Amino acid sequence: MATREEAALELDSGSPDATRTFAAALAAVAVPGDVLCLWGELGAGKTVFAKGFGAGLGVRDTISSPTFVLMGEYAGRLPLFHIDLYRLASATEAIDGGLLDDREGTGVVLIEWPDRLGTALPDDRLDVRIDGGDDDRRTLRLAAHGRGHDRYLATALAAGARRAT
Ligand SMILES: Nc1ncnc2c1ncn2[C@@H]1O[C@H](COP(=O)(O)OP(=O)(O)OP(=O)(O)O)[C@@H](O)[C@H]1O
Ligand SMILES: [Mg+2]
Repeated sequence: MATREEAALELDSGSPDATRTFAAALAAVAVPGDVLCLWGELGAGKTVFAKGFGAGLGVRDTISSPTFVLMGEYAGRLPLFHIDLYRLASATEAIDGGLLDDREGTGVVLIEWPDRLGTALPDDRLDVRIDGGDDDRRTLRLAAHGRGHDRYLATALAAGARRAT
């Protein structure tokens, strides 16, 4: 039987636009309660992905890097909650600050720097890892964890992703 790991997908992106277009395609299958964790170094393209995903959800406002507000909330087909935990020291801080509460279950949550959550990382989530950075080439790796995010993998395949080897 295929494990989750084997079900991981990869996409080569050659430009910010390609990353945005791919993310927008994924947003088509978003449902309330989805959580996407965006992994990758500074400048990897996590916010670029978030902007594309927002565009796909029909968000009209400009999605900016929520570094100082920790969370940006945007109205689209579903509410989009864009969280950036870079400046957070610990998960406790995130949870005490009410960052992951019930309200977010009404929409889709995108989390940059999810490693800050430690053991509070949601079990049900789609991981998107973005690597590369010397030029415009990036590799996006997708893996679904827990129940409910597999539909993103099917959509990613249709949008040009391949099975990771
Ligand atoms: N293929 C690509 N996909 C995404 N971004 C790209 C790509 N090629 C170049 N870039 C550039 O990389 C940068 C990514 O910046 P972005 O703010 O999205 O990074 P980030 O991962 O959110 O970083 P941070 O951790 O600082 O929030 C942008 O300047 C973007 O134009
Ligand atoms: Mg960012």
